[in-house]
Amino acid sequence: MTAPPLLRVEELSVRFRLREMVVRAVTDVSFELRPGRLLALVGESGCGKSVLASTVLGLLPGNAEIRGSVRLYGNSARGGASSPSSASGPPDGLELLTASERTLARHVRGRRIALVPQSAATALTPVRTARSQLVETLRELRPDIGDRHREADRLAGRVGLEPAALDRYPHELSGGMAQRVVLALALAADPDVIIADEPTSGLDRPLVERTVDTLRELAGDGRAVLLITHDIAAAERVATDLAVMYASRIVEQGPASEVFDDPWHPYTRGLLEATPARGFRPLPGHPPSLSALPPGCAFRPRCSQRDTCTGDPALVPVAPGRALSCARLPEEGRGARGPLTGSEPIGERSC
Ligand SMILES: Nc1ncnc2c1ncn2[C@@H]1O[C@H](COP(=O)(O)OP(=O)(O)OP(=O)(O)O)[C@@H](O)[C@H]1O
Ligand SMILES: [Mg+2]
Repeated sequence: MTAPPLLRVEELSVRFRLREMVVRAVTDVSFELRPGRLLALVGESGCGKSVLASTVLGLLPGNAEIRGSVRLYGNSARGGASSPSSASGPPDGLELLTASERTLARHVRGRRIALVPQSAATALTPVRTARSQLVETLRELRPDIGDRHREADRLAGRVGLEPAALDRYPHELSGGMAQRVVLALALAADPDVIIADEPTSGLDRPLVERTVDTLRELAGDGRAVLLITHDIAAAERVATDLAVMYASRIVEQGPASEVFDDPWHPYTRGLLEATPARGFRPLPGHPPSLSALPPGCAFRPRCSQRDTCTGDPALVPVAPGRALSCARLPEEGRGARGPLTGSEPIGERSC
């Protein structure tokens, strides 16, 4: 049986109103994070991935206009034993978009949902050792722990770091070590949900693999992980589920193995074909500016099928667990009839 979600994002849209323009950073995004699962969110630079992460954590600036729902649920899979705050919460979830800053700061950020930020180096205070930052975080988030130095050493071990490395200042750490310190900080309160935003940028291949393997292990322990990454190979290595984002929308999502084996959206195919393992063919063209999105499908100008397409970008279920935003779908896959059964033809899959 599939575990209930820890986090449910529904029809989330975010736009920034600037003096001269409106930036549509996230449009109608829906997904769930479940315990034991790792959802990889991939897409080109600037498509809205980090804004999505910031929205979930209530970290957007005042000029952001937000619509939709982000609900956080208790974690019955972990029973609350190892996670002091995980078992509580209303059964219909805590709506994070309307929760007060006090609730988010005291009960959610760092405690239930931890962010591994996009830049590890800048996330650390330069004038204090990694250990002192970790111990202080433990003091704040886990006052129940008596021996914080011992717990810091345990967390270091959990992320594959020698405890002695904690006694270094950030400038004495390699990029990979700094990344692991940031991951240890994120784990301090034993969160149920981990959002890792580009946790492997700048790391060499073995370290990339170790880092994402650690995230996968953390998901395996009953947490839910959202891995935001440009690194398709890393996503393929560890993701149980995949969401592909283009110009603020999720254009394809589903079980990772299915999407990697048989990508349906032309953008997903383009992203995969650009990887060394699949031919190294760069996707032609560039994504549109999010302040000047074209009407209809934003991928259409780059799509090989654009001449025979109506350009409707609605994301609809097309098979069990899979959803696609592409107008070249069979009519029966759309709207109120709900998901196809999976045995039905998907029609023009080469759309
Ligand atoms: N505070 C803000 N005000 C206005 N626009 C913003 C703000 N924050 C982000 N944006 C815009 O929102 C869009 C999405 O940005 P975001 O950082 O989410 O992209 P991303 O997918 O994470 O890119 P990358 O892969 O390079 O990290 C960009 O066009 C960015 O300029
Ligand atoms: Mg980003």
